[in-house]
Amino acid sequence: MEDIKNRADIKTMVDSFYNEVRKNERLHFLFDETAKVNWPEHLPRMYDFWESILFDKALFSGNPMQKHQKLHSMQALKPEDFEIWLSIFNKNLDTLFEGPIVEKARQRAESIATITKIKTIYNKPF
Ligand code: HEM
Repeated sequence: MEDIKNRADIKTMVDSFYNEVRKNERLHFLFDETAKVNWPEHLPRMYDFWESILFDKALFSGNPMQKHQKLHSMQALKPEDFEIWLSIFNKNLDTLFEGPIVEKARQRAESIATITKIKTIYNKPF
């Protein structure tokens, strides 16, 4: 298997990840019933987000914390929601790519999940 090399690979990773997310009952509920995510808008933002993180670009200009706090105010997030998210994220990568950029993606996902959990569920300034 190869490492994540470019935007096309990021698109593969992101599309496949959210495909799996939507098969999970709890996450499907949060994304599609609670947030009613507009996927054709959300997915390209996620390509920008991951391309910015993994390849040090400045393409993404969203506010994930605000979106997650809003989601939490509509439907209380639980610690296990983040575990499910991370588990799907990592399993998805296992099936697609391997290499240093993949490890960077895993680390960043884990640290952002932890910070997001603290700032939503535990409502602490970070
Ligand atoms: C329990 C876990 C999570 C849930 C249920 C969740 C759900 C959501 C939802 C509903 C949105 C709003 C989509 C929209 O309407 O545009 C969103 C946005 C986003 N999420 Fe998450 N998320 C989770 C964890 C994460 C993690 C761990 C990361 C980062 C690695 C992340 C990154 C983002 C980004 C970058 C956005 C876009 C923000 C923007 O467009 O301003 N999420 N998420």
